[in-house]
Amino acid sequence: MRIALSTGGGDAPGLNAVIRAAVLASLDRGWEVYGIRKGYAGLLGDDEVVPLTRDSVRGIGHLGGTILRATNRGNPFHYHRTRPDGTVEEVDRSGELIANARARGIDAIISIGGDGSLAIAQQLCDQGMRIVGVPKTIDNDVAGTISTFGFDTAVSTAIEAIDKLHTTAESHDRVIVMEVMGRSAGFIALHCGLAGSADVILIPEIPFDIERVCEKVRARDRAGRYFSIIVTAEGAFPAGGAASRIGASLPGEMPRLGGVASSIAREIQERTGKETRSLVLGHLQRGGMPTGYDRLLAARFGGAAVRAVADERWGHMVALQSPHIVTVPIREVLRHPKRVDPASDVVMTARATGISFGD
Ligand code: F6P
Repeated sequence: MRIALSTGGGDAPGLNAVIRAAVLASLDRGWEVYGIRKGYAGLLGDDEVVPLTRDSVRGIGHLGGTILRATNRGNPFHYHRTRPDGTVEEVDRSGELIANARARGIDAIISIGGDGSLAIAQQLCDQGMRIVGVPKTIDNDVAGTISTFGFDTAVSTAIEAIDKLHTTAESHDRVIVMEVMGRSAGFIALHCGLAGSADVILIPEIPFDIERVCEKVRARDRAGRYFSIIVTAEGAFPAGGAASRIGASLPGEMPRLGGVASSIAREIQERTGKETRSLVLGHLQRGGMPTGYDRLLAARFGGAAVRAVADERWGHMVALQSPHIVTVPIREVLRHPKRVDPASDVVMTARATGISFGD
């Protein structure tokens, strides 16, 4: 058996722990393991396919990033190729990819990625490739699994940032608006906001009214709490409005979100007269060492993915359904992306502890 691993989409802390566990578990079965570098690009001649041995994965379990590198630009079905005149054309290179995998004698692929990479995996499975998925994303927006690895690390980083913002906001009687990642899901904002004792949490699942946000700031002032910490998801938007985007995305690419914190801060300062600052936590959330929780989940996913390959669970993704790791059809997972349930216990507890959602 010759299997290959690929890490696609944005990186997430824990990728190396999945790679390590999957490589060691495969070698334990006497299989050969390869790594496809840069998502699927390694099978399209842009990079390479490298053998993965015990030595390749030695001492990487605690490291952030991915030794295989990653890209969120390499969709083989919508590949962007630059013409000699500098313009970009979109081509379908999936046939070439499948042919290259066959030529290299790759029997199966473990595709480690978020919803974008899993959608590509499903399309490749439809064309006869043998793929097992592993859910990865700091956003935690993949259905079928209680959590994805990378999420816990991102939340921990964001909580640490909130802790630091509290002291400076309080010293200066300021409002500080912190923007966190998550695309169209508010899990990172909700979890770090509650755990970090933010005063307002804004998420895409609960459109906000800026006046309600300002009311919360004023109410805190009246109570002698002259500072406020607001955590906003990058995808949060006002009722009747739309999420702020950064630049234009190429066809087949997901739009990049961001910039909402600065517009919220401007509005709050204008409406309340309070000095307001904003920051975008950005890629700090994707970097650094994975937490113990993420390392363990990643290792369990890596081991389970190898068992799923042995069981020929093609088109399935490993998933956490506590306390078990199970497999679920990728097709089902893609049908309904996971979002924050506004009636969930986390939202209810946040509200009960005085956190405003601006609604
Ligand atoms: O999906 C992970 C994620 O970090 C999102 O939270 C964020 O919107 C996006 O990727 C950022 O992508 P990039 O690294 O391409 O800017």
